[in-house]
Parts: sequence; C-alpha cells; structure tokens
Amino acid sequence: MDFPITRLRRLRYNSVLRQMVTETKLSVDDFVMPLFVCTGTNVRNHINSMPGNYQLSVENTVEECKKIYASGVKAVLLFGIPAHKDEDGSVACEHDGIVQQAIRAIKKDVPGMYIIADVCNCEYTTHGHCGTIIDGDVDNDTTLVTLAKQAVSLAEAGADMIAPSDMMDGRVGRIREQLDKHHFEKIPIMSYAAKYASGFYGPFREAAESAPKFGNRATYQMNPANSNEALREVELDIMEGADIVMVKPALSYLDVIYRVKNEFRMPVAAYNVSGEFSMVKAAAQNDWIDGERVMMEILTSIKRAGADIIITYHAVEAANVLNRK
Ligand code: PBG
Repeated sequence: MDFPITRLRRLRYNSVLRQMVTETKLSVDDFVMPLFVCTGTNVRNHINSMPGNYQLSVENTVEECKKIYASGVKAVLLFGIPAHKDEDGSVACEHDGIVQQAIRAIKKDVPGMYIIADVCNCEYTTHGHCGTIIDGDVDNDTTLVTLAKQAVSLAEAGADMIAPSDMMDGRVGRIREQLDKHHFEKIPIMSYAAKYASGFYGPFREAAESAPKFGNRATYQMNPANSNEALREVELDIMEGADIVMVKPALSYLDVIYRVKNEFRMPVAAYNVSGEFSMVKAAAQNDWIDGERVMMEILTSIKRAGADIIITYHAVEAANVLNRK
C-alpha cells in the first residue's frame, strides 16, 4: 500500500470528486442566529465591536427575522436588553418583558421561525452578574428560583426552546421541573453545559450591556484549562434532563466538543461566540485574511469536531454562501 500505489492526491484532482468525498458538509439547517432585542421603537443600534449586528427594537427584530428566514436559517436565539434592571433579574420574568414581547411578535409575523430563548440574569441585573448576589458572590440556590421563573415566563410567551446560560448547579433540573409543572413538557432544554469563563465574550457584553460591574464570572463559569470537568458538567445536565448540550466558546474548545460528542452521543451545540466572530471581521476588514473563506473554514471545523448545531453571528452570511453553491 506504499507509494507509488497509494496516491492520496488521486481524489483531489477533480472538483466533482472532491465534493463527493467531502466528509463534513455544512447546511443552513445547522445554524442558529443570535439576536439582541431592545426596548423602544424603530431602534437599530449598530454594535461597534460586532460589525453587521444590531440592538433591535421589537418590530425591527421581526423584520430581521423575515430576512433571516428568507436566507434559509430557521432558528434564532434571543437576548434581551431591558429598559430597567434590578437586583435579582426579576424584570426578566415579566409578562411584557422585552424578550416575551419579541417572541409574541415573531410568532405572529414569522410563524415558521424556531425561537430559542436564552435564560440568564446578567442582562437584567444592575450588577451584571448571572444571579442574585449574597455576601459578595452569586448565590446558587436563590438564583435557581429566578431562572426557573424566567424560563416558564418565556415558554408562556411562546418560546420553542429554553437555553440556560448561567452555569448555576442544578438549574437544568429545576427548570425542567417547573416547565413540566406548567405543562410545557414538550419544550426542550438546550443547556450551556460546558461554558467557560472566556475572554471571547467581550463584544457580547457590549451588545447585551451585561458586563459584570465588579469581579468576574470565575466562580460559576468553567476554567479554560479543564476538559474532564466539562464532561462532568455535561453528564450532570443530561441527568437533570437536558435534551441538547452546548459547548461554549467553540473554537478554542474543539477538543471539548469532540470529547462530549464521543462520550455522550447526544445532540451537541457549539456557540461560535462574539469574540470569535469579531476577530474574523477585524482581520478581514484589514485585508489580512479572506473573511468569507475563513468563516466557512471555521464553521466546518466546528461541525467536523462533532457539533450538530452551530450558534453563530455568521449564520446568514454563511447561508448565503451555501445558497450560492
Ligand atoms: C450570558 C451569556 C453570555 C454569552 C451568551 N450568554 C455572556 C457571558 O457569559 O458573559 C456570550 C455570547 C457571545 O459572546 O457571543 N450569560
């Protein structure tokens, strides 16, 4: 089987054949587009650190969803920027909360759109942490109460899926219990199971106005150096009822995506986060890289590592590339 009998280049000379033996193919079905919904009317604030992304008021969110849907991307992940914040994030549970309003409006005008609601307190608390502060740190079990309330409220508004991103222990079980109690047993949970304390979230915190006012998230998000711990996080979330498990960020954690997929054979989501997106945009704007090519290479690598679902700000652009083929 040695050279010259085996020539791996034989399969590379013809583009039709290259396509035939392509192992990993991206599809628009893989993508979820994150959106930032804010209060007011006719608001379309460009997010400086995330070129092409905006804080959108409800009616503009609906318009954006029409465009997203037309590109073939049929799922969005919603984040809210409320008018007022409070100590424990209760504003996130209001019947007319900003994300609740957006969900109802999208369901009415773009009924085919699959709506995933992020569940976390950091966009809704005055201090910017993901839960209630007691004695200077986020209190786990108190936070579970507000998270479960928020999840039920978002399901009542019509969310198709709940995605807790807070990293409290036990939140998947508590949310599942409360959803079921309120007859939302058909609503799946996609848990941010292995979510790292990452520098790659920088642009998002500008977009969602959710940077912590003191300290950092190291007491609840994971240490970037750990991957055995990621498997324990994922296993616990599965035991508590998670239907899809997520690894976040994606690019610096491809090994974690790979391990999670191989270990659990569950549907795996990967979040190609804001900083990963913005680095590509910044380098492309400088003509240092071919932005489109690098975007497709990155998304392919995330899928190749084992992700079934890719949450990415590139979703529509990548869909347009795929549609052109
Ligand atoms: C909220 C949350 C964050 C992201 C998603 N949900 C920020 C954070 O944990 O600080 C980051 C997403 C991105 O960077 O694109 N807990």
